[in-house]
Amino acid sequence: MFNIFKKKKTEPSKGVQYLSLKVREVVKETPDTVSIFFEQPEPYLDYKPGQFITVILEINGKEERRSYSLCTSPFVDPYPGITVKRVDKGLVSNYLNDHIRPGKTIDIMKPMGNFTTPFHSKNKTQYFMVAGGSGITPIMGIAKSVLINEPESKITLLFCTRSEEQIIFKKELEALTEKYADKIEVIHNLSQPSADWTGMKGRLDSTKVKEILSWSEDKATESKKYFVCGPEGLMTTTLNTFKELNISSELIYEESFYTDLDAKESALKASGEMAPSLTREVTVSVEGQEFTYEVSPEKTILEAGLDNNIDMPYSCQSGLCTACRGRLVSGKVAMIEDAGLSEGEIAEGYILCCSSKPASGDIKIIIE
Ligand SMILES: Cc1cc2nc3c(=O)[nH]c(=O)nc-3n(C[C@H](O)[C@H](O)[C@H](O)COP(=O)(O)OP(=O)(O)OC[C@H]3O[C@@H](n4cnc5c(N)ncnc54)[C@H](O)[C@@H]3O)c2cc1C
Ligand code: FES
Repeated sequence: MFNIFKKKKTEPSKGVQYLSLKVREVVKETPDTVSIFFEQPEPYLDYKPGQFITVILEINGKEERRSYSLCTSPFVDPYPGITVKRVDKGLVSNYLNDHIRPGKTIDIMKPMGNFTTPFHSKNKTQYFMVAGGSGITPIMGIAKSVLINEPESKITLLFCTRSEEQIIFKKELEALTEKYADKIEVIHNLSQPSADWTGMKGRLDSTKVKEILSWSEDKATESKKYFVCGPEGLMTTTLNTFKELNISSELIYEESFYTDLDAKESALKASGEMAPSLTREVTVSVEGQEFTYEVSPEKTILEAGLDNNIDMPYSCQSGLCTACRGRLVSGKVAMIEDAGLSEGEIAEGYILCCSSKPASGDIKIIIE
């Protein structure tokens, strides 16, 4: 049973990155997925297609934050929206599916994320997109933006879902393929289809990815971009196939929604890649204000900071979204998950506080 407190323990609305959005409409997309559309705030929500917002809710007396990609395009859709699929026993995804109604106000952190690309009317790009389940959400916003902005670009979208009734945005995708018949092709692959299903089915494997890639070849396009978002297995299969085909990593855009940090930490420790942690003191500067606190071995730098009531920014708490990004200016940390950071950011000394543990003394991190 959810126990919702009207008054917040923390006050997230003071920082510039926080905002309150009023729910305009809730649309049931599938039996276990809803889209939540918001009224435009004043000024309009500034976002790039494919970015995500962080939803901040108080559930059972505790603040919960989760990242949700915008399913809309700022070039097409008058109102910004997110699409949330239930996760088994998941706290926030089930709350959003069951308890959100028009008129409710939800606190968010403003849009962020690098799963996006610039659009230009002169582009002649072949987009190859692979989505699995709720991974369609950011891809939908990007696809709509390509179709409206780039008349000479083409999209091939491979969308993997469990069954017919689980296909998110089914009607909207049909409408897009009808309206832009020569510009977008959507191939559904179902892992557990009904007996009537005549389309592609079974697990996604490298052969299927290669087959669809070869169909998507279009001589009229001049460049290529690849977008992948979905569960771990789909991402690994697709990215390994791209690697096998020597597709440059610069052309690949990937977004993960979930990683099991504890399992990853155990694996890193077992392989000797991560030394056992010790209790260490760290200094964190948040928007110019300095805090020094102890981090015990079982805590990440973010968790210990939050325990000390330091208002550090965060969202996914699993190393994927970069909301907790800081620059390490002295000392060393062990980062359990760095998927959210680019190679360039890592080279510049950026770390993710939610997935980092101290690996030396004298640690100082600047969060701007
Ligand atoms: C950048 C980003 C964008 C995202 N965009 C979307 C989106 O557009 N739509 C959407 O529905 N979700 C999206 N997510 C995932 C979302 O933020 C939550 O993680 C998800 O809704 C589960 O939260 P929960 O509170 O329901 O589950 P929790 O209560 O946090 O978790 C419950 C249990 O499920 C496990 N678990 C949590 N998530 C998953 C998962 N995805 N797969 C397998 N096990 C899991 C947990 O380890 C835990 O054991 C996104 C995540 C990130 C990082
Ligand atoms: S909070 Fe998302 S990467 Fe740290």
